[in-house]
Amino acid sequence: MFESLKPAAVDPILGLMAAFREDPRDNKIDLGVGVYQDDRGRTPVMEAVKRAESKLMELEKTKSYQGIAGDAEYNSRMLALMFGDGHSILSSGRIKTLQAPGGSGALRVGAEVIKRARPEAKLWVGVPTWPNHIPLLGGAGFEIEEYPYYDMESRQINSELMMETLRKVPAGDVVLLHGCCHNPTGADLTNAQWDEITEIALERGFIPFIDTAYQGLGDGLEEDAYGMRTMAAKLPELVIASSCSKNFGLYRERTGSITFITQTAEQSGIVAAQAMTVARQLYSMPPAHGALLVSLILGDKELCSDWKAELEEVRLRIKSMRILLADSIQDNAQGMDFSHIKRQNGMFSFLGVKPEHLVRLREEFGIYIVSSTRINLAGINSSNINYLSESIKEVLK
Ligand code: LMR
Repeated sequence: MFESLKPAAVDPILGLMAAFREDPRDNKIDLGVGVYQDDRGRTPVMEAVKRAESKLMELEKTKSYQGIAGDAEYNSRMLALMFGDGHSILSSGRIKTLQAPGGSGALRVGAEVIKRARPEAKLWVGVPTWPNHIPLLGGAGFEIEEYPYYDMESRQINSELMMETLRKVPAGDVVLLHGCCHNPTGADLTNAQWDEITEIALERGFIPFIDTAYQGLGDGLEEDAYGMRTMAAKLPELVIASSCSKNFGLYRERTGSITFITQTAEQSGIVAAQAMTVARQLYSMPPAHGALLVSLILGDKELCSDWKAELEEVRLRIKSMRILLADSIQDNAQGMDFSHIKRQNGMFSFLGVKPEHLVRLREEFGIYIVSSTRINLAGINSSNINYLSESIKEVLK
């Protein structure tokens, strides 16, 4: 039977990651996949995670099945992280969170549940968005519509066109938003824009679906949650997929959660039960290890404050690399302006060079950048910045 299969397209981000690993050059630079690297180019296990792991070794008494919704303590601690203590939604009875296999697993469970609730709903995604959003969410059977998000010319959010399009989204459709650290552009919604979209969602009756994979890597843990906290306070329904891959560095542990806010408390029980059936059909139960670590960290005052300090270091390092890169390539032969990199947030920005420049950077200089020109700022460090900026300036000559 397999003879009927055609070769599948390589994932644009993970394919690049594999090509980078195979490149034998010592001076190669990985600005591709969204994985944090420290100033020595390593992706270390966070200290707080290491300590939680030792603790877990002692505490863990069983590897028996955990259940479809995952660890209850993890779920409630994730809610506290996302919404902060004392948010009105937490005591409303209208909210349910389930542990999920990473942000991607969370997105898919959310999409499948929405599809069950409203089979005719269309899903609106901003242009551009994380490339895997389309197959991952489209795979649940959604028809996908687009709204303009980023203007390549001005290198900022095209607010006017975006709002104009959102004002036409039919009631009952679903609008995908990035919670913070927009992937791939780094151009985040301002608080005022979040307020405006919340008002439009209320007026039009569409349901926002927030993908929040970088809480704490943009302006800070609290600041990065502004959008979801505002929407949760004002909207009758909301879906949020969150990930611990980046802010806890738990990439391979597949740790995330899916949150549903419903109009009534009664509906929230039904939605959670439906989400569990979806999960059971897709992967049965989420993996335990990462979630147990996150739960231990968030539940221990000292570990939690150490984790927050480490995360803050990560955030500030990325910010400083933004400034360093933008300043060191500003004097390029083509007079290209790279100052947007300094104004943007999180791991990514578009470099905005031409496709032929990317090919030369990869082939001649061993610098790996996704074809959209998205660069991962965390791949820059004090040892490679000169080589990187000189190489970029060389291809721009
Ligand atoms: C990325 O955007 O590079 C990351 O989220 C990794 C992935 O799965 O694509």
